[in-house]
Amino acid sequence: MKILITGGAGFVGSSLALHFKSKFPNSKVVAFDNLKRRGSELNLPKFLEQGIEFVHGDIRNPSDFDCLKETGMCFLNALRSRVS
Ligand SMILES: NC(=O)c1ccc[n+]([C@@H]2O[C@H](COP(=O)([O-])OP(=O)(O)OC[C@H]3O[C@@H](n4cnc5c(N)ncnc54)[C@H](O)[C@@H]3O)[C@@H](O)[C@H]2O)c1
Repeated sequence: MKILITGGAGFVGSSLALHFKSKFPNSKVVAFDNLKRRGSELNLPKFLEQGIEFVHGDIRNPSDFDCLKETGMCFLNALRSRVS
C-alpha cells in the first residue's frame, strides 16, 4: 500500500511518516512537502535512513502530484501551522 503524507516533513507529518513506516514496513510511505517551513529539511536524512520516499512539491501545484499514482491512504498536514 502507498501512504501519502502532505506536509510530510513537518512536525505532525514527519512523526506520522516515521510511525507508519515502522508499523507497516512493506508499505511505501511518501512524505510530500515544499520545505517552506524552516527546519523541515532536517527530517530528510531520517526519511532516507528509514526508507521513506520524499517528494519536494507544493499542494497548490497539481502537476507536483503526477509522480504519485495509486495512493492508498493520504494524510493532509501541509498547512502553515500556527503551532510554534
Ligand atoms: N503541532 C501540533 O501539535 C498540532 C496539533 C493539532 C493539529 N495540528 C495541525 O496539523 C497540521 C500540521 O501542523 P504541524 O505542527 O506539523 O505544522 P508544521 O509547520 O510543522 O508542518 C507543516 C508542513 O507543511 C509544509 N507545507 C506548508 N505549505 C505547504 C504546501 N503548500 N505544499 C506542501 N507542503 C507545505 C511545511 O513546509 C511544513 O513542513 C496543521 O494544520 C496544524 O494546525 C498540529
